[in-house]
Amino acid sequence: MTIDIASVPGNLEVLPWPAITGLAFGGDYNPEQWDESVWAQDVQLMQAAGVNLVSVGIFAWARLELEPGVFDFGWLDRILDLLHAGGIAVDLGTPTAAPPAWFYRAQPESWVVDADGRRLGPGSRGICCPSSPAYASAAARITTALADRYGDHPAVLMWHVHNEYGAPVSECHCDQSQIAFRAWLLDSYGTLDEINIAWGTSFWGQTYYHIDEIRTPAAAASVVNPAQQLDYRRFCDQQLRACYLRERDILRAHTPDKPVTTNFMATSCPTTDLWKWAPEVDVVANDHYLTAERGDRHVLLAMDADLTRSLAGGRPWMLMEHSTSAVNWQPRNVAKQPGEMTRNTLTHIARGADAGLFFQWRASRSGAEKFHSAMLPHAGTDSPQWHELVRLGASMRTLADVRGSTVKADVALLWDWESFWAQDLEWRPSVDLDHRERTTAFYTRLWQDHHTVDFAHPTADLSSYKLVIVPQMYLLDRAAAANLTTYVTGGGQLLVSYFSGVVNANDAVHPEGLSGPLGELLGISVQEFAPLAEHQQVMLNLLGHNVVGGAWTDRLLPTDPTTEIHGTFTDGPAAGSPALTRRPLGRGAAWYLATRLDIETLQHVTNPIYAAAGVPKNQIAAGLETVTRRTENGAFHFLINHNDHPVEAAVSGTDLLTGVDYPQSATVPAGQVMVMRQDF
Ligand code: GLA
Repeated sequence: MTIDIASVPGNLEVLPWPAITGLAFGGDYNPEQWDESVWAQDVQLMQAAGVNLVSVGIFAWARLELEPGVFDFGWLDRILDLLHAGGIAVDLGTPTAAPPAWFYRAQPESWVVDADGRRLGPGSRGICCPSSPAYASAAARITTALADRYGDHPAVLMWHVHNEYGAPVSECHCDQSQIAFRAWLLDSYGTLDEINIAWGTSFWGQTYYHIDEIRTPAAAASVVNPAQQLDYRRFCDQQLRACYLRERDILRAHTPDKPVTTNFMATSCPTTDLWKWAPEVDVVANDHYLTAERGDRHVLLAMDADLTRSLAGGRPWMLMEHSTSAVNWQPRNVAKQPGEMTRNTLTHIARGADAGLFFQWRASRSGAEKFHSAMLPHAGTDSPQWHELVRLGASMRTLADVRGSTVKADVALLWDWESFWAQDLEWRPSVDLDHRERTTAFYTRLWQDHHTVDFAHPTADLSSYKLVIVPQMYLLDRAAAANLTTYVTGGGQLLVSYFSGVVNANDAVHPEGLSGPLGELLGISVQEFAPLAEHQQVMLNLLGHNVVGGAWTDRLLPTDPTTEIHGTFTDGPAAGSPALTRRPLGRGAAWYLATRLDIETLQHVTNPIYAAAGVPKNQIAAGLETVTRRTENGAFHFLINHNDHPVEAAVSGTDLLTGVDYPQSATVPAGQVMVMRQDF
């Protein structure tokens, strides 16, 4: 293996936790679930495992505010003092994801109402109606009380607002939400006339004569106006963000020097537009859980980490939660294999995290999550799980110098929650259209070819990338198309997959037709969508290879004299129509692929584009994941062997985890991780 180390220094930025000198290691700690007599043991065991940061109080509202305005902070004082004495820093939670029973009893109008009109009450966890004034003031009161009391506590390093905004509920249809939705619409559009135009309400006689006639898109006889549904998604996202900002601003006013964050779910929460959230946190934090039954779960993990790093603008980020082994909420909660936890944590670190934290410290004996794995498992310390955890803690200490180093990618995939919201509405041309499937397919192709990938919003500056892939971007506005054109003209290679650029921000087909504003850039016109029947396949000739496509075809015409045809459907509903086109433009080229190819077959498309982009397919052993983090004067090469056999890697340096020097090349043992340090 050869690893190219650019001499350009990374964008160095050290995370704001001065008390921790290296990487952060720890997890959610819920001492309120336990008798105080175990706390001293907890701290001792945390020290033994190398824990230096725990998140405390995330669900403790009921134990902190016993009735409105009546607080019991004694127990939190004691545990924070104990943790501080033990040298363990605290990421202190605002507990607003779990309002106390007294709040639900006093404020029934704050209960969430779902799309079917059901009221979701107490006895679980999750936010109240995000538009509820009573919830807003109760959340502000507990946040202010915590900031007042603990802002100066030496254990408190940072703030953890709420928990996973968007889960388990992200929308509400109560009366207060109706009022807030109408206000949001008038604020966004100015007048009712503009709302009618934007939503195309002439269709199906939906014209509104008065703003009070508009309701949130709850259960209805048939499909609710898609533009209305899309705006409702935007509204819900903004209401949640307003909840976060309210708490963040209280905390910032009290402790301007302490970082504030909230835990995102980068690839797994469909309802929050994290491109809008990321600039609002002081450090990006993310939760990731494996899809345990999938053989490619480590690839999905890498994708999630790459998206998180991209949300952080390339700066280091925190892995706020992952699991030591099985979770408890999947259909079959497969336990991790020995070594898998270590590979998982270190993959997040490889891809830019400066913290590896878990849910949770000590396995709960009661409640809904008692079968979830934990750092301190039900089996206790005389268990292989605990021993692996202690080894991992030691590895994290050994990797202290990795902190602050950054990852550089030459390839970007576009990602846009607004487009996903629009595409996921009803009555699309085929149920086989799946932006997530396409994104994962392209990502997997790139992962197998050992390319490190960034994710980017369609309007982001793309000039640093050699290759940009648009996996399926149904909603794409004119500004994004212009941005992609600038990218190609400036020398970029752009690959656009089918069903991209179809509608504008109001889910209306662009006036140019089905290829929208991308048509001109691509030099094509999609005349008609020609989706396939279930399990139907089509043959196409692709750059001299006869291959099979599925799910989708387009009937399209080249529209520019420079458009080249590199693939043609040889049967199926689009027989004779181009399947792969390329239009050279400026110093770059724009490619279009009109069908779904499996990951293996995608090589026939990506290999020539890699060559054109100058990002050759790396000759590295299959199943060996390689990522490089750079500093101004060195690099850390992470080698993660997912195989059950050892592999050779042509990389030199000192393995930080074992201290062994490899002057020329290294053998990475089965299932193991090596981190080769290289100083320039
Ligand atoms: C989420 C939550 C945690 C816990 C874990 C379990 O990430 O934030 O509180 O419920 O899931 O996997």
